[in-house]
Amino acid sequence: MPIGDPVKRVRGARDILPDETPLWRHLEDVIHSVHATYGYRECRTPTFEPTELFVRGVGLETDIVHKEMYTFEDQGGRSLTLKPELTAPVVRAYIEHHLDKEAPLTRLYYLDRLYRQERPQKGRFRQFHQFGAEALGSPHPEQDVEIIALAYQLCARFQPAGLAVRLNSIGTPEGRSAYLARLREALEPFAEQLGELDRTRLRKNPLRLFDSKHAVTRSLLDQHAPPLAEHLSADDLRHHDEVRAGLEALEIPFEDDPGLVRGLDYYTRTIFEISSPELGAQDALCGGGRYDGLVQQLGGPDVPAVGYAAGVERLLLAAGDALRDEVVATPPDVAVLVLAEAGRLPALQAARDLRAAGHSVSLETLRRSARAQLRDANRSGARLAVIFGEDELSRQACTVKRMDTGDQEEVVLAALTERIAALLPPQSQR
Ligand code: HAM
Repeated sequence: MPIGDPVKRVRGARDILPDETPLWRHLEDVIHSVHATYGYRECRTPTFEPTELFVRGVGLETDIVHKEMYTFEDQGGRSLTLKPELTAPVVRAYIEHHLDKEAPLTRLYYLDRLYRQERPQKGRFRQFHQFGAEALGSPHPEQDVEIIALAYQLCARFQPAGLAVRLNSIGTPEGRSAYLARLREALEPFAEQLGELDRTRLRKNPLRLFDSKHAVTRSLLDQHAPPLAEHLSADDLRHHDEVRAGLEALEIPFEDDPGLVRGLDYYTRTIFEISSPELGAQDALCGGGRYDGLVQQLGGPDVPAVGYAAGVERLLLAAGDALRDEVVATPPDVAVLVLAEAGRLPALQAARDLRAAGHSVSLETLRRSARAQLRDANRSGARLAVIFGEDELSRQACTVKRMDTGDQEEVVLAALTERIAALLPPQSQR
């Protein structure tokens, strides 16, 4: 094996080290339990999907599909993509397993790892985690309200101050076509000033121009884009009003934002984003909306749907240290110390027996001095130390020490599990 520089992690991907994992597990526990209170059931989909799923589902001219996907060919020449979002995969699974036949409404949630080849910066990664939910079956505004309420409750649980909910309606594809024609017409005279992608967008999918980061495109839109709201149908407006009324009834603060479009093609009517003042440039904690045509577009039945997704890393950044205080450290119950060679095998057996009885045990495997082992046992916060020393071993016994008082007693090995159980009830009974 050649010796060289250490291999580093890929840019935009992160390691979650043991100092941080308790925080993640705490957040995950809350995510699972809050979704359960709304009646959502967890759905897990594969890490990769056929590339076509995202091209058809998310849209060819979106930033995600056009420039952010990790796409590769497998040995069979199939084009696969590491999933950059979860709505299309969940809808694929819903169609493939005929979940629509099981119930008129399917409520699913997820917590998963995603991949987007974006420029890494604070709150923006190439591998990141999302949780979210999709409700498939109801066309009614109260379902939109439920999704927004669920998303809001989870964001507020971790970052209570200053959340902003922005809401808009982008109508249905039928109503939108007149708008897109107007938009195209308004910007066509300036096509030469646009970059290549934005020119394609202007031709094929002008709504995506609103995702552009180019200053020229942005200022042309500011000056010339007609307002989308003028093209909403009476039904779209009624739907939107009922969503607003639902949010008001639940006392969820929100603002109408006519400029909000969201960067994915599948939305119809309601779209929303929740952002945090703690995050700076990448301030969206969560986004979602209704997508009534997607199930059919991906080859399934005509089922309306609405959903949301939130970024775990962004939520953790926004939550800051307050969340850390909620996480309680879990020190081992017992530290097994080995002071004599003859104690090594009995220590292994004692650790096995104590674990089988439900205690958490840290076992000395470094063959260190008695002082170093005791210092470590103290630091670890263990409640008891079980010490295998030469003297006691000659009597088939060990020493049990209470770390808080320093009291010690000699216990015969055959009675050790019983004695520890008397001193420490197993974790499940605490
Ligand atoms: P999205 O807005 O693309 O929506 O992503 C949702 C959230 O994921 C963002 O608000 C953000 O918190 C997080 N996120 C996105 N990209 C990154 C990144 N590169 N690094 C860190 N966090 C990121 C969707 O994905 C839709 N599927 C949401 C949805 C569900 N719509 C309907 N159902």
